[in-house]
Amino acid sequence: MTRAKGKHFIKTFGCQMNVYDSERMGEALTEAGYVSTDTPESADLVILNTCHIREKAAEKVYSELGRLKQIKKARQSQGQSTTIAVAGCVAQAEGREILLRAPVVDLVVGPQSYHRLGDLMSRTGSEQGGIIDIDFPEDDKFKHLPARSKVSHAPSAFLTVQEGCDKFCTFCVVPYTRGVEYSRPVREIVEEAERLVQSGVSEITLLGQNVNAYHGDGGCGETRSLAQLLRVLAKIPELQRLRYTTSHPRDMSEDLITLHGEEEKLMPYLHLPFQAGSDRILAAMNRKHTRDEYLELVQRIRAARPDIALSTDIIVGFPGETDEEFARTLEVVQHVEFAQSYSFKFSARPGTPAAAMDDQLPEEVKSTRLQELQAVLKKQQEAFNLSCVGKSIRVLMERPGRREGQLVGRSPYLQAVHADGDKSLIGRMIEVEIISAGPNSLEADIVNTSISDVIAAE
Ligand code: 5AD
Ligand code: SF4
Repeated sequence: MTRAKGKHFIKTFGCQMNVYDSERMGEALTEAGYVSTDTPESADLVILNTCHIREKAAEKVYSELGRLKQIKKARQSQGQSTTIAVAGCVAQAEGREILLRAPVVDLVVGPQSYHRLGDLMSRTGSEQGGIIDIDFPEDDKFKHLPARSKVSHAPSAFLTVQEGCDKFCTFCVVPYTRGVEYSRPVREIVEEAERLVQSGVSEITLLGQNVNAYHGDGGCGETRSLAQLLRVLAKIPELQRLRYTTSHPRDMSEDLITLHGEEEKLMPYLHLPFQAGSDRILAAMNRKHTRDEYLELVQRIRAARPDIALSTDIIVGFPGETDEEFARTLEVVQHVEFAQSYSFKFSARPGTPAAAMDDQLPEEVKSTRLQELQAVLKKQQEAFNLSCVGKSIRVLMERPGRREGQLVGRSPYLQAVHADGDKSLIGRMIEVEIISAGPNSLEADIVNTSISDVIAAE
């Protein structure tokens, strides 16, 4: 380890891939001599890891930069310098514009370049103006990052296996900010998973913008699918739970569906965005599937794993969406009954085809539709949570709760579960009985704390 050069603070916006990236950036910076700190006021380097998916997310960065400007000034008056970096998808999409709009920024670094952060930092003092690194390099950033640190991790960890997307949904910036699809080799992933497990992780969520399109090098010239990768990872003895997200309906292979019925370590939860219920809108979105194809897919998944909890993403108010077309979205929701969901008003993102389409809808129409949709989705989530009351399930205890003596964990279906118990149970798989359910979490009594073998969801 290098001598301490300063302290870093990373603030993360957006999706789980950014959470993963921030963790890796933090580890790389620690290796380069920048220890982590809990507040921006005490940091010599502040990184905003940003999200560009919707306008609201992107704008948050600028209000945060306003706050950081004050902090930088206050530190300056005490003779301390602060380097401010914007990383992630806003960095990739807006590049130099960020320096023009927020001159307080010293460094703009895209999601494919964060392994170069240490080097870039050493240049910030000597170069005039801000530094920008938003190339899509040929080399694999994962190879250049230090191996996962052995310091103990939370019991549940993310692991990015695939990045980028070739689907080009007409509303989405991801193909532009994260680039073309790339899958990490199987060996690299297995090594990372093993290191995580050695440091106390028992649940791993494989991440990718389009994770079920995973097609990584298997080592002998052959390509491995996500289902094959999951089978390999399931063989790691101490690894008890596997999840993956996010999936595209077009890439749910038969093998992956079958695996949901066969592999006990693969949790009964699937995030499967459908975005809209009308075939005309789905085609305008370039989703490459119809409403019926989605519904039929859900049927096959449920046939393989009847208790699977389904989650989804939905967009309301896509350009030209009529009331009738919106009603088709509600129909799909009524038909499928989701355990969890994320729904959004369409946000016109610069550079995407949908932003240039005619018939952009007024905000009020989008807001009314979103409210109506979310009322239905909320009821479905509550109903799913209620259906768990009285059941005995296995929970991976993750952290202390807000109340003294309370622990919080996750059910196989990804619900937060609260139970009273000793802190020593954190990191363990516990059997609990669900005694009550709220809209966002379950309350439980601990039944059995000595489950140590391979864990199956009930
Ligand atoms: N407007 C609204 N929602 C969007 N999403 C992606 N792009 C947009 C946009 N321009 C939503 C989709 C996607 C999720 C991650 O964000 O539902 O699945
Ligand atoms: Fe964006 Fe997902 Fe469509 Fe890819 S599949 S373009 S990440 S919404």
